[in-house]
Amino acid sequence: MAHVHTFDTIIVGAGGAGLRAAIEVAGHGKTAVISKLYPTRSHTGAAQGGVCAALANVEEDSWEWHAFDTVKGGDFLSDQPAVDVMCREAADSIIELENFGLPFNRTPEGRIDQRRFGGHTRNHGEAPVKRACYAADRTGHMILQTLYQKSIKEGVEFFNEFHVLDVLFADGGECAGVVAYELATGELHTFRAKATVFATGGFGKMWKISSNAHTLTGDGPGALYRRGIPMQDMEFFQFHPTGIYKIGILLSEAARGEGGILRNSENERFMERYAPTIKDLAPRDMVSRSIYLEVREGRGIGADKDGVYLDLTHLPPEQIDAKLPDITDFVRTYLGVEPKTEMIPIQPTAHYAMGGIPTDVDGRVLRDAGGTVVPGLYAAGECACVSVHGANRLGTNSLLDLVVFGRRAGKAARAFAAEAALVDVPDEPEARTAEMLASIKAGKGGEKVAAIRDDLQVDMQERAGVFRTGELLAGMQEKLAELHERYAGIQIDDTSERWNTDLMEAVELGFLLDLADCVVESGLKRTESRGAHARDDFQQRDDANFLKHTLAYRPDSGHVPRLEYKPVELGRYEPVERKY
Ligand code: FUM
Repeated sequence: MAHVHTFDTIIVGAGGAGLRAAIEVAGHGKTAVISKLYPTRSHTGAAQGGVCAALANVEEDSWEWHAFDTVKGGDFLSDQPAVDVMCREAADSIIELENFGLPFNRTPEGRIDQRRFGGHTRNHGEAPVKRACYAADRTGHMILQTLYQKSIKEGVEFFNEFHVLDVLFADGGECAGVVAYELATGELHTFRAKATVFATGGFGKMWKISSNAHTLTGDGPGALYRRGIPMQDMEFFQFHPTGIYKIGILLSEAARGEGGILRNSENERFMERYAPTIKDLAPRDMVSRSIYLEVREGRGIGADKDGVYLDLTHLPPEQIDAKLPDITDFVRTYLGVEPKTEMIPIQPTAHYAMGGIPTDVDGRVLRDAGGTVVPGLYAAGECACVSVHGANRLGTNSLLDLVVFGRRAGKAARAFAAEAALVDVPDEPEARTAEMLASIKAGKGGEKVAAIRDDLQVDMQERAGVFRTGELLAGMQEKLAELHERYAGIQIDDTSERWNTDLMEAVELGFLLDLADCVVESGLKRTESRGAHARDDFQQRDDANFLKHTLAYRPDSGHVPRLEYKPVELGRYEPVERKY
């Protein structure tokens, strides 16, 4: 039996951006959130150290300084008008969260407390500034819980554990809704809507050492890519400097914001060499590269000498207990290390996609380099590329991005749905999805999903990680050809209808492979080093040729995307050499 649901607005994804958008839309027509997870399991809950805004509660600050830091942190690839929007609306978005009930840490005077984070400075780089508002080291968790409670209060309808696998378009190119797979039954559902907002998060499970949950497989961007929407700036993927050694679980940058120090095998505070002004609080791309350089020089630690230490032993124990309770517990649990007395082995971990679905500042999805808007289609949060983070995001700007642009996308979707008519979905809207699932279930080629995924992760880590070269990336492209071929021969063990996670993992792997194609081809063709894209064979930033955004389109045949470029929108800040 066909299941067809009709709404004014649907939101795909129940993390911070999706829930913030839903709150904006709630009460204005019929609204639903569709999520492959139970909402409070969304990955926003894993963000730890803070959400920034120039509140100036603790130290002098201004939104313009925040904007400057964001643009410089992004190695001048950010669209500066979008950065201005985010930084100007930051304070209001935080106060709004506070009014929704978020339990921020407080100053003795009762204001929202603020702490230091990498790349956030006073007066254009003079010294680090306290700009991150926080709830211990569980800020994302608190944002998620707060927004979920608010969404429930506002009467948002939820379709939990419904996995969206395809996007529907009307003949005129308008977005008409989505097709979702209900995990409990194995049945397909068509969701028709006037406005559809994607907020499905990132795709960090493409790499072996990753802070991302198993669910971060890029299904939203992947489904749109297969329908002809380009992926923007995919070569820029952030490695957070401090993942738990060999495991990747995030240890918040707040640890360094609270005074933690990185040390090599010789006990040296090596960041003094690479970023003399702000040292351990340099932006993430620089710190991760510095760790790799220390390792290359033979000053690494750990079983494979490919990590360094995070040292908190000089911090007062009561500060650790009050400000960093969760991450220090992770260290005790996963490493058996006591952070109050022992140094913590860490290594860079794949963390955040700067690239994704191209949008404007109202979350409207753009289908080409000319900025053509796809009517009725919106995206916000990590899956989107506005682009505020440019080539490297500053810590705490992701939680800010999702509340500011989640709200703006929700507002724009609501306004669109109020005016627009419901468009027709194509005949047999679920046919393509049904065919894909049937073909996976029928596969007899003997290839195992877990084995292909493992190969993808190991190779991406080695060839498309913190440092890249043309040779490494070209090798990865060949590897991807092989992995696509093996994917065509997959065979799953579970072909039943209910809770078939085997089937869904196979689908997710398909999205990861497609997006890996975008990361690799975009990186191969960007023959410069900028932000998180560090090419050993092209070590300088090349503004003359590459001050532009990459757009990767699905090719008509083969797996290598077709690339186009569009200019960066500059503003007050002329590109200069990035020094800290
Ligand atoms: O280090 C952290 O707490 C992560 C924050 C972020 O990615 O913004």
